[in-house]
Amino acid sequence: MTSATVEFIDRDEIMSRLVNSVQDRNVCYALIGSRQIGKTRILREFARRVGEKAIVVRLDFSVNRYSPEDFSSALIQSLTDEYAKRVGGRKRALSHISSIFQMLKDIQRLRFSIVIEADEQGKPQISIKPELAEEKRVNKKELVELAFAYATKIAEESRTQVVVIIDEFQYLADFASYPGLKSIMEIFRHTLDERGNNVSYIVSGSRIHFLTHILSDGKSPLFGRFTIIPVGELEEKYTCELYMKARKNASLEEARLVYELVGGHPFYLLTLAENKHGDETPRDTYQRLLSEPTGAFNLYARYIIAEDLGSHAKARQSRFLKILHTLGDRTMPVSEISKQTKIVLTSLPWYLQQLISYDLVAKSKDGYSVKEKVLRDYLTITTDSV
Ligand SMILES: Nc1ncnc2c1ncn2[C@@H]1O[C@H](COP(=O)(O)OP(=O)(O)OP(=O)(O)O)[C@@H](O)[C@H]1O
Ligand SMILES: [Mg+2]
Repeated sequence: MTSATVEFIDRDEIMSRLVNSVQDRNVCYALIGSRQIGKTRILREFARRVGEKAIVVRLDFSVNRYSPEDFSSALIQSLTDEYAKRVGGRKRALSHISSIFQMLKDIQRLRFSIVIEADEQGKPQISIKPELAEEKRVNKKELVELAFAYATKIAEESRTQVVVIIDEFQYLADFASYPGLKSIMEIFRHTLDERGNNVSYIVSGSRIHFLTHILSDGKSPLFGRFTIIPVGELEEKYTCELYMKARKNASLEEARLVYELVGGHPFYLLTLAENKHGDETPRDTYQRLLSEPTGAFNLYARYIIAEDLGSHAKARQSRFLKILHTLGDRTMPVSEISKQTKIVLTSLPWYLQQLISYDLVAKSKDGYSVKEKVLRDYLTITTDSV
């Protein structure tokens, strides 16, 4: 979301766990943390550090809202690209890859064709076609299974560790709404259990509540398959370092003020670093970016709300907004929320539970509150326009 990329800071502990997992192949990690906290940046840095030691492919649902077909094709193509680089000679790569697909096709009795052609530069390009002309579509389940099985085969053939990174993993779980993919999480579990010790998976995402549920609930097919690494805020020292890297002439004093204001949240810091006017205090900048309709924090808060509540009808959206505005920067028990919003006490638990599942609201012993600072402050300075 910020324009300039600042040199990578800290995250040493998480990074060393991820890098070690390339040797200790049995571990699959899940990076879970709130929006813009730095998960994708960690994964990109990990891929860079691993370099030639493993075949690392990264699929990011926040960059491409993949359909099951797109996801499978992208996984197959990225693995092919990485494998082809290592085989030496494009002709050889082409023939190796053809024979891998032939093997997989025989094992899995696929009802579609895999076409491998060299592009203008001689790089192998994979396309998937229905076997019979009258069939318009390929079977989604078979295709997804093929893509995962291909990762395992590439690891075997190349005798190299393969690491598949799936960023914003919750969207893979959403494939369950496609016909034939209701059991996507079982398919993925099967992949994990059959992958052999040359393939590992790293998943990541910002839907904390949902991901924690699908990865650690005893009833979930993925229970026990991932070790969760929470990605939290940066420590003060690194926060200041990041701020001063992003804002060349900033003093340590200014950086500390920013830390006091927004904590160690990289996106907040970088946004302040980028937008602060010379004569403003960080607090003034923060207020300006929050209150102006085109301010970065104002846009961010509205984006979060629209993104999370967008799936609901207008009438429901307005009740969610009423609750959020009522909470603002306070913590309230359900009875108080009911009194102030005039939503009946019996309907509120459902709304609050939804807000919790979107990670917008948190529940503590004192009641309910809005989780994210920028959102809290946005809700406090804007009025409920519904
Ligand atoms: N350790 C870091 N060093 C330098 N910059 C960082 C670091 N962590 C995050 N950033 C920067 O902060 C911003 C947000 O990071 P990133 O996109 O990785 O977050 P995310 O957790 O993947 O967010 P989302 O959930 O929205 O996908 C980016 O501009 C990124 O470059
Ligand atoms: Mg990300």
